[in-house]
Amino acid sequence: MKFFVDSADTDAIADLAATGMVDGVTTNPSLVAKSGRDFKELVAEICALVPGPVSAEVTALDADTMLKEADELLAIADNVCIKVPLTWDGLKATRQLADRGKMVNVTLCFSANQALLAAKAGAAFISPFVGRLDDIGADGMRLIGEIRQIYDNYSELESQILVASVRSPEHMRASALIGADVATLPPEVLKSLIAHPLTDKGLEAFLADWQKSGQSIA
Ligand code: G3P
Repeated sequence: MKFFVDSADTDAIADLAATGMVDGVTTNPSLVAKSGRDFKELVAEICALVPGPVSAEVTALDADTMLKEADELLAIADNVCIKVPLTWDGLKATRQLADRGKMVNVTLCFSANQALLAAKAGAAFISPFVGRLDDIGADGMRLIGEIRQIYDNYSELESQILVASVRSPEHMRASALIGADVATLPPEVLKSLIAHPLTDKGLEAFLADWQKSGQSIA
């Protein structure tokens, strides 16, 4: 399973990349706006921090302008992945980019049919937003299970399921159990995956006993 970081904070991305756990990064216009950084400079910096795909989202609504924006973004680095919204124009742009061998992440997916369309358009990644579905009383993880089943039913559907809007370790656990290909995690959620009180308690006890033994290893 691949781990992406969902962030436009280069310090946080660099910090996590140093663990060797980060396979890619996703950004969106809200995260970029929050960073206060120039978009293209930011994308270039992130692309140098991680070897894998870095999703950079177009903001045009029509396919022709999306493709122009995509070309600007693709020129930044080889690992740029173009992110487009799940609209008919987004899917048209996806088809054209996929035919040129470019990676596309289709975002703002909230239904199994939308995921089916994105895969049919040649998306490298489909991004279902589980947290936002939970927010409206729907079941985000159920959607991931449905998409997994649909993609597994048809070998020609090659999109990877990129679980997005991940808000908790439970979303991550459920994604892994279902067999999602990728999850994109806010830095604080990724960091929280390691936490268990018995690990902390056990380590404390081991160290206290070790100190009593009076030994040292190095
Ligand atoms: O990857 C999409 C993500 O950034 C959206 O997360 O928490 O704003 O729903 P959230």
